[in-house]
Amino acid sequence: MILSIESSCDDSSIAITRISDAKLLFHKKISQEIDHSKYGGVVPELAARLHAIALPNILEECKEYFQDLKAVAVTNEPGLSVTLVEGVCMAKALSISLNIPLIPINHLKGHIYSLFIDNPKTSFPMGVLLVSGGHTQLLHVESYEKIEVFATTLDDSFGESFDKVAKMLGLGYPGGPVVEECAKNGDEKRFDFTVPLLRTPKLAFSYSGLKNQVRLAIEENPEAKNDICASFQNIATKHLLHKLKKVLQIKSFKNFAIVGGASANKYLRSEIENLCTKYSMSLHVADMQFCSDNAAMIGRCAIEAYNLKKFANLDEIEINPRTNF
Ligand code: KG4
Ligand code: ZN
Repeated sequence: MILSIESSCDDSSIAITRISDAKLLFHKKISQEIDHSKYGGVVPELAARLHAIALPNILEECKEYFQDLKAVAVTNEPGLSVTLVEGVCMAKALSISLNIPLIPINHLKGHIYSLFIDNPKTSFPMGVLLVSGGHTQLLHVESYEKIEVFATTLDDSFGESFDKVAKMLGLGYPGGPVVEECAKNGDEKRFDFTVPLLRTPKLAFSYSGLKNQVRLAIEENPEAKNDICASFQNIATKHLLHKLKKVLQIKSFKNFAIVGGASANKYLRSEIENLCTKYSMSLHVADMQFCSDNAAMIGRCAIEAYNLKKFANLDEIEINPRTNF
């Protein structure tokens, strides 16, 4: 079995995954959303302190598996450096005390492997749209090691733009679920926001301009919360679809997936589903509980790394807050 640890942002999570059949045997996650909500975003030092309390508590529940562990895996990149270090220190301690190898895992790869948890039918190659709080990337994933990036964001990410809109509207953190909820009761045609990077062929994403359009709309129409959320969500999603269609002109996929915390958005899922039908692609999404950050996806990804013997020495493992693909 592999014990995996995730602490790249504000979720403390540990999982146990069986190597032979990739079955998830144990999974627990303690989220800090309420603690950060009043600040309208994650406060890194507070997150680190809360990980230092939550992770040992979860580990206590895994003790029965210790004798069967063949490796310990941990997210070491990308993320908040002060929170990554909490998980990495715990992983190092386990590696030394149980005398088992250490596997560093890229958090973005973890999100891709969330598609495989308890789902043996998933396989590469596939096109992947990764939408989280830190990233917006359009990828071609051929294998664990072969990932091509078609487009990435120039500024804010898709999920982050929901968080910022929620903050401007005083809706708390995280913004994604609450903006999606408000949008259900709003008129998406009321505000004529422009789709970012519409007139450039550049394969890239940008959400800072849309955020400023929303800011102005809120100033002029403070009562129009639901209509603003609906109009924003519509344009934020159109931007993804516009660039995805551009990629589909040069590349075809049989399988396409959406992963990351924001892949829980039902409006986005249904728009991408329509596109997949039009382009004859099968759509893959992770189970809702595995869309946002969790250690089960890190454990599932670690099975591939274990089979490829991607181990790190204790003094070699690095914390890289900003790594991309
Ligand atoms: O993957 P994740 O849990 O953490 C990172 O790796 O960043 O993603 C969190 C992000 C947050 O920005 C959150 O607002 C967004 O995912 N999110 C959503 C929804 N649920 C979560 N964004 C849009 N719609 C949602 N329903
Ligand atoms: Zn994430």
